[in-house]
Amino acid sequence: MKPFEKILTKNMSNPAYTGSLQDYEAAGGYQAFKKVLAGVPQNDIVEMVKKSGLRGRGGAGFPTGVKWSFLPKGHPGPKYLCCNADESEPGTFKDRQLMERDPHQVLEGMAITCYAIGAETGYIYIRGEFRFGAKVLEKAIEEAKQAGHLGSNIYGSGVTINLYVHAGAGAYICGEETALLESLEGKRGKPRVKPPFPATHGLYQKPTVVNNVETLANIPHIVNHGPEWFASIGVPPKSTGTRVFCLSGHVKNPGNYELPVDATFRDLIMDLGGGMRSDKPMKSFIPGGASAPFLTPDHIDVQMDFESVAMAGSMSGSGGVTVMEEGTSMVWAALRLMEFFYHESCGKCTPCREGSSWIVQILQRIQNKQGRPSDLDTLTEICSNIGGRTVCAFGDAEIAPVQSTLKYWRDEYETLIAEAEVIRATRKEREIPVLSL
Ligand SMILES: Cc1cc2nc3c(=O)[nH]c(=O)nc-3n(C[C@H](O)[C@H](O)[C@H](O)COP(=O)(O)O)c2cc1C
Repeated sequence: MKPFEKILTKNMSNPAYTGSLQDYEAAGGYQAFKKVLAGVPQNDIVEMVKKSGLRGRGGAGFPTGVKWSFLPKGHPGPKYLCCNADESEPGTFKDRQLMERDPHQVLEGMAITCYAIGAETGYIYIRGEFRFGAKVLEKAIEEAKQAGHLGSNIYGSGVTINLYVHAGAGAYICGEETALLESLEGKRGKPRVKPPFPATHGLYQKPTVVNNVETLANIPHIVNHGPEWFASIGVPPKSTGTRVFCLSGHVKNPGNYELPVDATFRDLIMDLGGGMRSDKPMKSFIPGGASAPFLTPDHIDVQMDFESVAMAGSMSGSGGVTVMEEGTSMVWAALRLMEFFYHESCGKCTPCREGSSWIVQILQRIQNKQGRPSDLDTLTEICSNIGGRTVCAFGDAEIAPVQSTLKYWRDEYETLIAEAEVIRATRKEREIPVLSL
C-alpha cells in the first residue's frame, strides 16, 4: 500500500486528542471557516468543492459541489442544511466515530456549507441509538457558540449560523433524505416522490441540502489545502480524497480505516484487517453496506473508488465492507439481510412492502429445506418487480443480496432445494396407503 496522510481521522489518531474545542483549535480547527468568512464569496466555495471532486459519502456518491449549485439563486430563504447522521446501513459505523471523536470537524464543515449555500440553520439528524454522539455534538455546539464560531454575527462578519441536533427514533428509512426531512418536520418518516428535489423543495418546502457526516467533515480540509490537493488523492477526476471504510465480519481486525479511494479491497481486508479470523479462505464480501451486491474473492484486487466497484458489479455505497469466510451459507446471509429490509420497509410502495415479505418467506423455506424447484424463478421475478419500481432506492437496495447471491452461489440454493425434494420424496414413500375396505 502506498504511504498517505490521513485527513479525517488524523486528529483522533493521536491518543491524547480529546475532541474538545481546545484540542480542535490547537490542531488548526476553525481556520478554514475564519478564512471563508474573511471574504471568500459564497459561490467560490461551491466552485472549490466542485473542483475538488468530492462525492457524497452517504451512499449514492453524488458530486457535492454540484448538489449545492442546484439551490435556486437569489432565493429569499430560509434555506437549510441537514447533516445526515442516521447511519443505519448494516455494516456502517464511520459517522459515529467522526461525530464522537472529532465533533468540531463536522460542525466546521457544516458551518462552511451553511455559509456557501446561504443557510442560517443547520440540523444534524442523528440516529436515535447514538445517544452518546448526540450529547457530544450538543456539547460541541455549545462550546462553539461560546467561542463565537456559531451564533449571530460570527467573527464580526454579519453572518448568522445556528446548528441543532435532532435525534431520530430508530427507523432505517429515515436515512433516505426525503424521509429524513419528513421526520424532521415531525411527520412519519416516509420518502417523498421526487421531483421536486430537496434543492428546491426540502425542509418545510424550502431549498435544502442534505449531506452525509463524512462528506461535510471533508469541507474544512478542502478549504484549507485547496481543491487541487484533494483532487490529487484517489482516482481523479471522478473519485477523489480518502474514505473511512468500515471493516466488519470474519476478519481479524475489524474497525474503521481511512484510506485513499484508490486503495484495494486487499489493502483493507488482508493488510489492515489481518485477513480471515480463522485462517479459512475468504468466501465473499459486501463492498459498500447491506445495499450493495455481494462480491467474491476474485474481486479482492478491485480499487475501492466509485467507478471500479461499479465496474465489478456492485457499489462502494456507504463504505461498509463486511467479509464472510468459507463455510458461511450464502442463502442464510441473504436471508439475514432480507429480514432486516423486510422489517425496515416503510410500506409506502406495494412492490417493496409486499415483495420483501414474499422474499423472506421463500428464503426461509429454502433455508429450512422446504424449498421448491420453482422458487428460484419466483425469487428472480419478485426482485425484477421491485427494482426501479419504488419511490426511493430502498427497493433497489433490498434486492441486492438476493440477486447477487443467486448470481454467484446459485448452487447453494439448488443444493438446499434438492435436499428438500429428497425429504419430500422420502416422506411420500413412508406414507401408509389408505386401504379401502
Ligand atoms: C433506504 C436509504 C437509507 C439511507 N440511509 C442513509 C444514512 O443512514 N446516511 C446517509 O448519509 N445517507 C443515507 N442514504 C442516502 C441519502 O438518501 C442521501 O443520498 C445522502 O444523505 C446524501 O448525502 P451525500 O450526498 O453527502 O452522500 C440512504 C438512502 C436510502 C435510499
